[in-house]
Amino acid sequence: MTSKPAIPRHIAIVMDGNGRWAKARRRPRSFGHNAGRKAVREVVEGCLREGVEALTLFAFSSENWRRPEEEVGALMALFVRALDKETEELHAQGVRLRFVGDLAAFDEPLRERMQAAMTRTADNSKLHLNIAVNYGGRWDIVQAAQRAAVAVARGELHAGAIDEAALSERMCLAELPPLDLFIRTGGECRLSNFLLWQAAYAELHFTDTLWPDFDQASLHQAIEDFGRRERRYGRTGEQIASDKG
Ligand code: FPP
Repeated sequence: MTSKPAIPRHIAIVMDGNGRWAKARRRPRSFGHNAGRKAVREVVEGCLREGVEALTLFAFSSENWRRPEEEVGALMALFVRALDKETEELHAQGVRLRFVGDLAAFDEPLRERMQAAMTRTADNSKLHLNIAVNYGGRWDIVQAAQRAAVAVARGELHAGAIDEAALSERMCLAELPPLDLFIRTGGECRLSNFLLWQAAYAELHFTDTLWPDFDQASLHQAIEDFGRRERRYGRTGEQIASDKG
């Protein structure tokens, strides 16, 4: 009897390689980001097809503000265009859209659009699509610690009761399935401060494919790779085999 291959419930992606993709075509970096937007559409379709419950994309890190002003401006304009164009279709497909990160840094019109898209899609549950913007994994841990400190100060939480669960429930994405699969495109093999806490037991999949070339077949390949991994959570291979018994 062959059992169905495991499908990751929650996938996160560092979408790297837009700049190199554009450079290879002698075009500006913004051309690559724009092509990257089409790849976002591809993976959303792929996740809906494969039955993935949550997809979290790293669209703008807290470090990306250091890029040339022109590129930051082009990315912001791209986010606005994408929101205006995609929200209704995502809604029709049953996708719940959420932005995670320190949103206070964005200007008012963009923040309003983000909020409107979140409100519009809030009752959907077919796929939870989280766009991480001005996000950093260390920031996420710090803000969870600050929330716990506030709860202690208010007398709602005992300092001695701050454990992993107490911090986990104060992190971004706490209410979603645990992160199963962490993908990074573009050939680098690092986490770059994305979902540090949530990735503790995630399977890592690194590919040389540049983000604009990442399509549904690439996603399927990553999911197949995930299906071949043995997830032991500190136990031995023999223990896992005897459980499956
Ligand atoms: C990294 O590639 C990519 C980014 C910093 C931006 C990601 C943004 C998108 C894919 C745009 C679409 C997103 C949404 C949510 C609409 P890089 O520029 O670092 O590439 P390089 O390593 O080749 O220079």
